[in-house]
Amino acid sequence: MKKTVTAIAAGLFLATMTSSAMASDVLIGSCIYKFDDTFMTGVRNNMEKAAADLGAEIELVDSQNRQPAQNDQVDTFITKGVTALVINPVDRSAAGPLVEKAKAEGLPIVFINREPEKNILDSWEKAYYVGAKAEESGTIGGQLIAEYFKAHPEADKNGDGVVQYILLKGEQGHQDATLRSEYCVKAMLDAGLKIEEIGSDNANWDKVQGHDKMKNFITSQGIDAIEAVLANNDDMALGAIEALKSEGYNTGKDNKFIPVVGVDATAPALQAIAAGQMLGTSLNDAKNQGTAAVRIADVASKGEAVTSESIGYTLTDGKYVWIPYVKVNAENYKDFM
Ligand code: GAL
Repeated sequence: MKKTVTAIAAGLFLATMTSSAMASDVLIGSCIYKFDDTFMTGVRNNMEKAAADLGAEIELVDSQNRQPAQNDQVDTFITKGVTALVINPVDRSAAGPLVEKAKAEGLPIVFINREPEKNILDSWEKAYYVGAKAEESGTIGGQLIAEYFKAHPEADKNGDGVVQYILLKGEQGHQDATLRSEYCVKAMLDAGLKIEEIGSDNANWDKVQGHDKMKNFITSQGIDAIEAVLANNDDMALGAIEALKSEGYNTGKDNKFIPVVGVDATAPALQAIAAGQMLGTSLNDAKNQGTAAVRIADVASKGEAVTSESIGYTLTDGKYVWIPYVKVNAENYKDFM
């Protein structure tokens, strides 16, 4: 009897040992450019969930929008003995030294959301990037506006046959800001719209800045001159909508509506679409971006080959996972809630 109890106890102990050994086999150290960012909060939460599903440990830290702080955090992770890094750089042009640190330790490093230059990624075989092609989301925004003007000719308030629009851009130097801005304009032109940019400014992905910049444009141009707003993300679009609301537009209550588009498909943006205050957005897929990054880190931590099969996402050029954007408007927003 005693023997059996001991055997069972030993068995339990072993089982506990194995599971704790398994859990500590993979320790992912991850730096997020700043925790106070709506979309990256979604990515972060999905990374935690993906790690839990895999039985991997993950530690996430807030780089508070300061690259030097992030560099120190990476050093700390290395000292701690992490098995892989997942980095959302503050400044994507500062990725080089981080890749060098990882390479010196033989550590896999996965960049997310802010894409390093190709030659930097190419300098270390265990360097990867998970993101989305910003061109797609720019194109979707421009197409949403073009479709709206075709269906609602009266949205050309001054009847001059030209769409006067405001562009709210993300952070200077961020590939998503540059490419979304370029491609939303291109998509409107490709759709045959005549357009005129009457205001454009960086609002750094931020709702309050989006609101304030929009207020400035309303003051300088007059609300009657503004026929469309294209924002590089939803937070800035929602800020702009707040500014329009104080002029009696986009309340969702009557037909005073200026089409506003964003990017991300955050929960508040989906609610604004539901309420008839926002025209549309594109899904920036936080779940699949977060999951893909963690799966790469997990597989690479175990010394296994990172392939499309081992991570469950298409791996391009042995280094890139591209998650597609999806057009979201009044017709399909419920699918994303
Ligand atoms: C973009 C996203 C923005 C912001 C930014 C941070 O992809 O659309 O809302 O999160 O990344 O780098």
